[in-house]
Amino acid sequence: MAGMEEVLIMSSYNNFCYMKGEFRMSILSTTHLTKQYGKEPNIVNALNEVDISIEEGEFVAIIGTSGSGKSTLLHMLGGLDRPTSGSVRVDKFELGKLDDEDLTVFRRQRIGFIFQNYNLVPILNVYENVTMPIQLDGKKPDREYIQEILALLGLEKKLYNMPNTLSGGQQQRVAIARALAGKPAIILADEPTGALDSRASDELLRLFAAVNETGQTILMVTHSARAASRAGRVLFIKDGEVYHQIYRGNSTNEQMYQKISDTLTVLTTGGERSE
Ligand SMILES: Nc1ncnc2c1ncn2[C@@H]1O[C@H](COP(=O)(O)OP(=O)(O)OP(=O)(O)O)[C@@H](O)[C@H]1O
Ligand SMILES: [Mg+2]
Repeated sequence: MAGMEEVLIMSSYNNFCYMKGEFRMSILSTTHLTKQYGKEPNIVNALNEVDISIEEGEFVAIIGTSGSGKSTLLHMLGGLDRPTSGSVRVDKFELGKLDDEDLTVFRRQRIGFIFQNYNLVPILNVYENVTMPIQLDGKKPDREYIQEILALLGLEKKLYNMPNTLSGGQQQRVAIARALAGKPAIILADEPTGALDSRASDELLRLFAAVNETGQTILMVTHSARAASRAGRVLFIKDGEVYHQIYRGNSTNEQMYQKISDTLTVLTTGGERSE
């Protein structure tokens, strides 16, 4: 048990967040996270001083228009790229203090990343792609769990297919299975429903809700208010800044959808922020 003094010290390092009237453990946080691409005079400010804190076990959606910085944020959180300034902390690790090798191991052991462009290995079949991170870690895949996930994602008949024989939506589902296979503490999903029809999206969101119930933390980037309405919290990002957030509270999915849509309307019409 951490004593009060320790709690206060940790809290000053952003290790705790205040939610629903109590302090909870923050599993992931950023401090003044900034990312610029390119050089003067063509600098793109993709992220601008972003401060967020995610509690262990949360399901958070990140919503914003194309080019607003969503993928950049997810890449920084997953340690796939380094910030221009500011920092990212996951558990007790300051990612900026890890060298490239430690960062790779850290990522493989703690983070399931679903890439916007899938990133499947073309010379491996579906099952090999899904189990690759676990194999790289020298661990034994939980075959039963993986087959359950593949079946829930409708891929049970595609285990031995190569990626180039799959549709875009099927490839996306393989990338999802790969991210979930090792039961990572944190799932970072970049537009995971982008190539899925509404039925497959619904099934995926149900699967996310189920793994979230087991305590896995999920951050999901999306354009879709419908997909975001399943989350417990929605962060709105615009021009590289998180400018608003909504907590579910006791709202139903439908009420959540309405709140998100209303906020997006304000966002796109440039009106005043709604609280
Ligand atoms: N490697 C890069 N080099 C230069 N600029 C980049 C690079 N990656 C992203 N950007 C720019 O940074 C900004 C944010 O891009 P990002 O990919 O994070 O947006 P996004 O919100 O994920 O968009 P989308 O919804 O289209 O996926 C954009 O202006 C983009 O052009
Ligand atoms: Mg993107």
